[in-house]
Amino acid sequence: MSQPATVAPAPKAAEDTVTLIDNSTGKQVILPVRSGAMGPRVIDIRKLYAETGMFTFDPGFTSTGSCDSKITFIDGDQGILLHRGYAIEDLAEHCDFIEVAHLLLYGELPDRTRKHEFEEIITRHSMVHEQLIMFYRGFRRDAHPMAILCGITGALSAFYGDQQDFDDPREREIAAHRLISKMPTIAAMAHKYSTGQPFIYPRNDLRYAENLLAMTFAVPCEQFKVNPILARAMDRILILHADHEQNASTSTVRLAGSSGAHPMACIAAGIASLWGPAHGGANEAVLTMLGEIGRKERIPEFIKRAKDKDDPFKLMGFGHRVYKNFDPRAQVMRRTCHEVLGELGIKNEPLLDIAMELERIALQEDYFIERKLYPNVDFYSGIILKAMGFPTSMFTVLFAVARTVGWISQWKEMIEDPQQKIGRPRQLFTGNTPRQFVPLSRRGG
Ligand code: CMC
Repeated sequence: MSQPATVAPAPKAAEDTVTLIDNSTGKQVILPVRSGAMGPRVIDIRKLYAETGMFTFDPGFTSTGSCDSKITFIDGDQGILLHRGYAIEDLAEHCDFIEVAHLLLYGELPDRTRKHEFEEIITRHSMVHEQLIMFYRGFRRDAHPMAILCGITGALSAFYGDQQDFDDPREREIAAHRLISKMPTIAAMAHKYSTGQPFIYPRNDLRYAENLLAMTFAVPCEQFKVNPILARAMDRILILHADHEQNASTSTVRLAGSSGAHPMACIAAGIASLWGPAHGGANEAVLTMLGEIGRKERIPEFIKRAKDKDDPFKLMGFGHRVYKNFDPRAQVMRRTCHEVLGELGIKNEPLLDIAMELERIALQEDYFIERKLYPNVDFYSGIILKAMGFPTSMFTVLFAVARTVGWISQWKEMIEDPQQKIGRPRQLFTGNTPRQFVPLSRRGG
């Protein structure tokens, strides 16, 4: 019977390798170990199959690095999130979304002149082709805006289609600009469509977050005034969601893009992945859960359910695959949440009371402390967005607007990586071994 393989530390002379010993054959394979600029080292297993005939097995990719990246660094134990080396707290405090978008896409914060130039480009790509309106009309009025966003973003590839050559860096850059520019327009149109109100065109005199608010909340029969505190909060929400390393939706965008697919179709794939409640759909799920709890007195009942192994219920907005200490985005979001509620004069919002009490209890309970389950960014963002007047179904749409800049920056980095190959994981096959085919006439029944 074969013995499991063990990973032995490398001999002293070769510290940047590990030796894998197959205990069933005694065969040893030396694998290189690579160090990044920060963070855990990685074992480079690219030659593993060729040398051993074995694959690695890692469902959920909890121990797998899928690419080299220079964009975002996360240390989940320390609660650190850096974009191109800058702390998220500094970016959220001192920058606007346009600067952060530039940083993610080009690697540097822009100076004043460059910022103006970049903002002009993003502003002037924000209209969508009038023909796209026909696509909206194909949806039922009660369609979920994420379904609409996914469909319309995929459809964009048909408007900027065959003539594009994404091997050309300039074409890649233009695709990135178009996506960042048009996503707020598409998102706001999804909202307007579901309410039956007319679509509102983007305005070139407004900044990115202001425009998003105007296209969502303005109506043609009166002048829309942007509240600067709400615009700042919206901008901060966009910054805090702009990128997050190789999460499910970003990995989806990279995987779709690795086959050479159209970038707008890749972003549509990312939107589909983001929609799930374990990922971007959590901000909507938080509000649904708070509504279900309904009264503070019922919180213990839900905490009990969250702790019950036989109950699939989870406290939405708690826990994170990577942050096992605190989510640095959640801390900024918590402050913003109180600013927004103060500005709007919301004092006795029952859902907020439930949220604050839930946070207090969960942070004291052994179950949550032992498992390092803290409120994540979506716990607070849902409350802010509700206070601003967004329907819950739009929460994940807004996450997608923000994350588009991260997705397209990661897509661009992948395409420009000389090591890039089509993504193609393998499997541990557990189905039938070869068996004799039986024709229908001899299968009985
Ligand atoms: N409520 C109750 N128990 C939980 C929760 C929760 N929200 N999250 C994790 N646990 C428990 C889980 O049952 C497990 O317990 P045990 O060790 O006894 O089996 C332990 O904590 C570890 O959980 P896990 O499922 O192995 O952790 P994971 O890294 O696979 O999952 C997660 C991370 C975010 C999917 C999960 O915490 C979750 O479903 N949270 C609620 C949904 C949510 O808020 N998602 C948004 C994430 S942040 C936004 C984003 O980046 O997309």
